[in-house]
This record gives sequence, structure tokens and C-alpha cells, in this order.
Amino acid sequence: MAHRPSTCKGTKSSEGLIQASNKLPRLHGAQCSYVQEAGRLFVVLPNHAFILHPNRHHGDPPPQWMSIWVERPIRPISLRQLTFFGRTLTEPRLISSANYVRTELPTRLAHRLRDIQQLPYVVVSNPHLSLVYELYYKAFERFRVIPEICSLDDNDRFCDVLKEMLKEHLVVIPNLATGVLECRELFPPDEMDRFMNTLLRARISRRVIAEQHLALTDTFNSPWHFPDSHERTDMNADFVGEVFLKCNAREVIERCGKVAQDLMRQTTQSPQIPTINVQGHLNATFPYILSHLEYIVGELLRNSVQAVIEKYHDSSAPPPPIQVLICETPQHVIMRISDQGGGIPREILPYLWSFSKGPRTQTRLENLGRVPAMAATMQELKVSGRKTEPVGYHEGSLDSLTSRPPNLRLGMGLPMSRVYAEYWAGSLELHSLEGYGVDAFLQISKLGNKNEQVTTRAAIDAV
Ligand SMILES: Nc1ncnc2c1ncn2[C@@H]1O[C@H](COP(=O)(O)OP(=O)(O)OP(=O)(O)O)[C@@H](O)[C@H]1O
Ligand SMILES: [Mg+2]
Repeated sequence: MAHRPSTCKGTKSSEGLIQASNKLPRLHGAQCSYVQEAGRLFVVLPNHAFILHPNRHHGDPPPQWMSIWVERPIRPISLRQLTFFGRTLTEPRLISSANYVRTELPTRLAHRLRDIQQLPYVVVSNPHLSLVYELYYKAFERFRVIPEICSLDDNDRFCDVLKEMLKEHLVVIPNLATGVLECRELFPPDEMDRFMNTLLRARISRRVIAEQHLALTDTFNSPWHFPDSHERTDMNADFVGEVFLKCNAREVIERCGKVAQDLMRQTTQSPQIPTINVQGHLNATFPYILSHLEYIVGELLRNSVQAVIEKYHDSSAPPPPIQVLICETPQHVIMRISDQGGGIPREILPYLWSFSKGPRTQTRLENLGRVPAMAATMQELKVSGRKTEPVGYHEGSLDSLTSRPPNLRLGMGLPMSRVYAEYWAGSLELHSLEGYGVDAFLQISKLGNKNEQVTTRAAIDAV
């Protein structure tokens, strides 16, 4: 396939579209044409556009590369596998973890690049979505050429590339969210939501494997790690990489509740902040990635605290407490968060889980518009002067997100929380009692034996 304008022998139409001649490549059996916009070259099919990378040279590998990677199935992992893998950490295990990430990242990226390529041209040419595409493409190109990792030095260099990618990709969520909202009229909302879900889930999956490997490398390099001595490998360690083996539901709720309460105390004039009562199986523990759980619980409590404060703003009586019930079953831990904040407004209820539709789209776009202007990443959106404590092993991408100002409502708390909950085979449901309050049910798969729920081929093809 040609990928430079000079190879395209078409005629330029008045709209800047270069019509392809019969000799030009055919994609999926259809005649294609090209359009150049903002320095990017697109191949346009009747309903689709493929962005070609602007910096390609003749000597570059052919784009079949992408197909080869897309054909590779991804190899999902479970929390249990992540744990066992890192428990007795030896040099060969660390190297093999590095090589897993080295081949898995470009595979997962290639799948997502293909998803974006399959969007209609008008959607894919949105500046926010094409920025995400460019970031993914760059990362794909970078990772696919990394040779096999054979030594600890190789691994150190690989970790530097990983860290750089994680940092560079912090802008992905606000850009995706803005792009999806801006294109809401151009693409069926349900498909747009499915696309967003797929991309977010895949993004979590890449960060999980990358951050886990970085955490394992840190553990390996720490002065307390003695890889050659079985006796001294700590079999009771609470963290294995990013996985926290003894996640305690009550502690997480209390910690996240305090963050939500403090935030509201700082940013609202309301003197009355609802208390949070926790009851049920208070000792329930399970393996989980702590930052994921704290994000979900944090978003739910934040919504509840906010709703109760708004409802009881003018009342002299103390606001009713938020009741949290923890229920442990052989397979699951279920948390029910009940508030009396008046329930979810009827007009937004049908759009609760959507990234792309609903009556508040315009406000959300405006709020999202403040994100790149303020800091370029959602992660840096903090209430000024507030010090956030990193909760995970690394300065994660979620902890400071939780401390963004409460009036900056992006409409993403619930849909993102559900993506996180489902990622480790859990679920998130909400029941709204109109005029009274909300019950949120978060179900966590307790045994850690479920694979990460990364999109399957069927779902990719459906996008
Ligand atoms: N517990 C609740 N009580 C009342 N309304 C709620 C509750 N939880 C959510 N809502 C309503 O649902 C809307 C969507 O919630 P969601 O958390 O997805 O986004 P947001 O809170 O508006 O913005 P963000 O979470 O991105 O800051 C909220 O704006 C609010 O109107
Ligand atoms: Mg919210």
C-alpha cells in the first residue's frame, strides 16, 4: 500500500481530495482515495479513513506490520497469575516478565489502532481522537522494534521506555472524552460508547501490565530483596508488585470516605458533611489493585456525599449518614453504598453510563475544555494547596484524579468506575429511588482467579 502523497497518482478535487486511479491500491477490495489534513495523510474508503503516519519513509516496513500484530491474540492475565509470578522473584522471572510486556504491549496497541482506523473519517479526523491515535501509533512503533530482553541492563532500559510511555499517555483520557463528545452527532451514541469502553479497558490493561512490571523491577532492585534465598523471599508480603493481597473493604471505604469528606469541606461552604457508617463483614479481604478499588469507591462516595450536601444545604438538621454495607460470599465481596441525597435526576438516568450522550453534554465539554488548559492531564487537576498522598506502589494515575475539584463535573465518574469494576470481572449497578436516594452495588470477584476482561476479537470487530 502506498503511504506517501508522491506515490498517489490521483487528481486533486476541489475539496482537497485526491481521487485514486485504477492503479492505486485497493483496501478490503474497495477503491480508495486520499486526503491530507493538518499534516496527516488519510486513506479514505467509502465509510472509513485510515490515518497514515506523516513521518513515514520509503525504507519503513510496510503497513502489513499492523495486520501481523492485529492477528496476534492477546494473552490476558489474572490477579492470581500476577501474584504468583512476582512472589518468588528471580532474574529469569523478571526478564520473562519484561518480554511478556514487550510483546504484549504492541499487540494490544495494534488492536486499538485498528479500532480507531475503523471509525468513519469524520470521526477519526477529530483533533482529539487523532492525537490519541498518534500517541498510540508512536508507542506501537517504539515497542514493536524493541529486541528481546536478555539482561538486567536491557530491562532497565526497557523500564525507562515504559515509564516514558505511561507519562506521555496521561493526556489520553481527557482527549478521548472530549473527542467522543465532540463527535456525538457523527456516530451512533451506542457505538461511540462501545468504542470508548473498549479503548478505556485496553488502556487499563496496558497500564496494569506495564506498572506491574515496573513494580516488580523496583522490588527486585530494592535492598530488601534477596532473589537467591528462598527463606528470605517474603511469602507474606502484602504487595506483589501492584497487587495488594490484603485489600480490606472497610479500610478502603473509610479512607476514600475521608478524602471525599475533606474535599467537600474544603470546597463547599456547607458546614454539614454527612458521616459514613460502615457495617457488615468488616474483615473481608481480597487481592486487588488498590488504586483501582480506591478509584471506584472514591467516585461512588464522592457522588453520594455531594448529593447529600446539595439536598441538605439549607437544612439546619444534620444530614442523614451514608450507609455502607459489606457482604462477603465465597466468591465475591459486595459493597452497597446507600445515601439519601434525593436520587438521580430523572432526565439523566438513561444516560448515566454513557460517555457520549445526555442532556449535560455541553457543560461537560466546557469542563473538559478546562482540563488541557489547566494542566494537560486530568491527573494534575487538584484542588489547589491540597497535598495528595500516593496510594499505590507508584504515583498512580488515579489517586490525584480523585482529588479534582468537585464543581468540575466531567460525567465520567460512573462510566469509568464501571469499566474498572468490570475489568477484574466485577460489576457496578445503581438503583435510584426518586426523591429519596441512591443505592450503589459494587461486586468484586474475591478469589483473584478471573482473567482481566480485555476486549475479545469479536468485540473489536463489532466496533
Ligand atoms: N448518589 C447520587 N445521588 C444523586 N445523584 C447522583 C448520584 N450519583 C450520581 N448522580 C448523578 O449522576 C450524574 C453522573 O454521575 P458521574 O459520577 O458519572 O458524573 P459527575 O459526578 O457528574 O462528574 P464526575 O464524576 O466526572 O466528576 C451526576 O452528575 C449526578 O447528577
Ligand atoms: Mg461523579
